[in-house]
Amino acid sequence: MMPDVKEVLIPSSEVQAKVRELGARITEDYEGERPLLVGVLRGAVVVMSDLMRNIDLPCELDFMDISSYGSGTSSSGVVRILKDLEEDVTGRHVLVVEDIIDTGLTLSYLMRSLKARKPASLEICALLTKPSRRKVDLDVKYLGFEVPDEFVVGYGLDFAGAYRNLPDICILKEEVFAS
Ligand code: XMP
Ligand code: MG
Repeated sequence: MMPDVKEVLIPSSEVQAKVRELGARITEDYEGERPLLVGVLRGAVVVMSDLMRNIDLPCELDFMDISSYGSGTSSSGVVRILKDLEEDVTGRHVLVVEDIIDTGLTLSYLMRSLKARKPASLEICALLTKPSRRKVDLDVKYLGFEVPDEFVVGYGLDFAGAYRNLPDICILKEEVFAS
């Protein structure tokens, strides 16, 4: 896989340090609670698995699958719930865990849907954000890194289904997108 990588944007060591820091903040903020971590499939799986092990609280886990993208790199603007939560979130402290926020359209749709189910609290933890691409306002309480407007892969993020297992967050060579 590494031959396809043009640049390592955020090395694994920095990602791990940031996830530990976010986990410590979450542990402090939710003291005495039993938060429900809601991951957005499939990209958030990797950050979720590292983050939850850095939260020193009894917490629960659930996943949603929402799609606004095909296999390409640009938003279609269409958001669909492909898989809903198993848990009832009414009265729960819900923390949505995302890999990356781009336009914000996907997450803003998801937040509206979750809010309507009357959770006790609802916050966002996103590993990455592309501020220059934002189309809707989102209040991201726990944020990892701001990244430039480049398509990134690794640490859960894919291009056409691949590269999710790269430990670093990387930018691919142009020829990979063309092929
Ligand atoms: P929006 O635009 O709704 O999109 O905020 C969020 C979703 O878009 C995907 N996305 C990316 N996936 N590298 C990826 O692998 C990227 O650079 C990237 N930018 C956006 C991602 O699925 C995210 O949940
Ligand atoms: Mg995603």
